[in-house]
Amino acid sequence: MSTDITLVLGATGKTGRRVAARLRLRGTPVRAASRSSRTRFDWTDPTGWDAALEGVSTVYLVPPTVPGPVHEFVARAEAAGVRRLVLLSGHGADTWGDSTFGLDMRSAEDAVRGSALEWTVLRPSNFSQDFDEDVFHAPLVAGGLALPAGEVPEPFIDLEDVADVAATVLAEPGRHAGRVYELTGPRALTFAEAVELIARASGLPLTYKQVSLAEYTAALVEQGVSETEAEHVSAMFELMARGVIAGTTDGVATVLGRPPRTFEEYVVRAAAAGAWDR
Ligand SMILES: NC(=O)c1ccc[n+]([C@@H]2O[C@H](COP(=O)([O-])OP(=O)(O)OC[C@H]3O[C@@H](n4cnc5c(N)ncnc54)[C@H](OP(=O)(O)O)[C@@H]3O)[C@@H](O)[C@H]2O)c1
Repeated sequence: MSTDITLVLGATGKTGRRVAARLRLRGTPVRAASRSSRTRFDWTDPTGWDAALEGVSTVYLVPPTVPGPVHEFVARAEAAGVRRLVLLSGHGADTWGDSTFGLDMRSAEDAVRGSALEWTVLRPSNFSQDFDEDVFHAPLVAGGLALPAGEVPEPFIDLEDVADVAATVLAEPGRHAGRVYELTGPRALTFAEAVELIARASGLPLTYKQVSLAEYTAALVEQGVSETEAEHVSAMFELMARGVIAGTTDGVATVLGRPPRTFEEYVVRAAAAGAWDR
């Protein structure tokens, strides 16, 4: 059995599947894992972790949605002979302070950064693809977004850039050891501007409406989002309103030697693929 496998967790998710494809193309042996992947991996069931870690040198770690399990996972990884961990976290994680947002990612950072292994932390801002692959997609298809986002802009990052950075870091042992990369797009824009760009590129009459945090949380639950997830997303908007994570960074250029993709590039691509058509 090879001892140079890269274990990709969250392999069916937005970053994991993009990272796995890039690594395979480079010829890296990949073990794609999640609850529904061929290699079964469940954060709530540690009995399966050792099998997933066998022969693994490097892990792309998408954390669980609750704080805690990554500590035990890192201990198992060390015992299994893993050498490197690349963790997906979130933009400005050490500025989130008393916010209830991202306790899952902060716990995972503690576990990874406290380990004896070589580690790198990736901290992307909100993904552009949240508008066509995640929580903002359904309301856009229904005609528009109603958010408590206000005037503070967000430096949306294209998931293709997050995956390019992750695959590059995973492929370059040593060079990114102990580094925390803050990853953003090239400019920050408000949600109202984002919706306007999507409306223009797709030719659809999409609207943006400002609502209160309480109204937004209630609407998410009504749409079928769990209360925990609704509170998590609302806490994110509360945090964004503070303005401390609204700035752009040079993380993508530092790793890739080129600027990040623009939001407009994303919008054109997704509109051409019919992402928001009814
Ligand atoms: N969305 C954003 O704008 C944004 C921005 C910055 C950071 N982040 C962070 O990015 C992370 C999410 O990454 P992502 O967007 O690539 O993933 P994702 O699209 O949310 O997908 C989640 C992945 O995790 C797997 N998964 C879910 N529950 C699991 C469990 N109990 N055990 C094992 N695997 C499980 C899922 O596959 P199965 O269902 O097959 O298990 C799936 O592959 C979160 O930590 C989030 O906070 C998100």
